[in-house]
Amino acid sequence: MAVCPSGAIEVLGRTLSPENLFDLPDKEKAATYEQLHVLFQRRRSIREFKETPVDDNLIKKILDAAQTAPMGLPPSDVNVLVLNSRDKVRAFAEDFCSYLEGMKWMVSGWFLFLMRLFWGKENHEMFRNFIKPLLHAYTENMRKGVNLVSYDAPLAMYFYGSPYTDPADPVIAATYAMTAAEALGLGTCMIGGVHPFIQNGRKAKEFREKQGIRFASREGLFVIFGYPKVKYTKGIRRTFASIEVQR
Ligand SMILES: Cc1cc2nc3c(=O)[nH]c(=O)nc-3n(C[C@H](O)[C@H](O)[C@H](O)COP(=O)(O)O)c2cc1C
Repeated sequence: MAVCPSGAIEVLGRTLSPENLFDLPDKEKAATYEQLHVLFQRRRSIREFKETPVDDNLIKKILDAAQTAPMGLPPSDVNVLVLNSRDKVRAFAEDFCSYLEGMKWMVSGWFLFLMRLFWGKENHEMFRNFIKPLLHAYTENMRKGVNLVSYDAPLAMYFYGSPYTDPADPVIAATYAMTAAEALGLGTCMIGGVHPFIQNGRKAKEFREKQGIRFASREGLFVIFGYPKVKYTKGIRRTFASIEVQR
């Protein structure tokens, strides 16, 4: 149906119908490699935002672009929670920190000591050296009024799946949203520190329900957006850990 030059073929089923088709935009209108590469090079994580809200029209554009993302198995099983004001982003972070206050036992010395036997060395080290300091940094700063969770951005989106989603799908969609927002002149930052904390247990379920998050899922990612207060002049040259061309 999508390649037939005369539109003679119609396919119905699996939530697809001829109405889902649209004419592909001209190739000449597509971003060139240079344009895309410059967009990628200019992107730096932004954690300080002007108070200017992000217009609904831009939010729609970001979501339209993100919905073009590929998915493990169509139709998409990605869900998005949109927090479209600074107050909502802040309220979410405050609720999240109150919730974390009640989870501190999970990173207490005795619990980590006990769980080491079940989790193995890598998980134990991750909890001790990353999760525990992160949880403390979030909650202690929030008690002083400083929001290190979502930096009081004027817009945040949480991309998550369902128990059936390909775990990569929400992350790919979030990456598309981030790239689209960059093209619209916004600053962005991915926030990985929320999703893992709100997956398991009764309290996590209560938190998700309160926030309007429909499912627990293996992967999920927050992205914050807004007009940058800071201006970068330098990028950092980055490389993968390894690239091996198989012979
Ligand atoms: C999956 C993922 C999770 C991230 N989580 C956080 C986070 O929770 N808080 C934060 O301040 N930055 C977070 N970041 C931003 C990274 O710290 C940032 O991308 C990295 O330092 C590289 O800097 P750059 O984005 O400016 O190139 C995250 C980035 C990714 C890709």
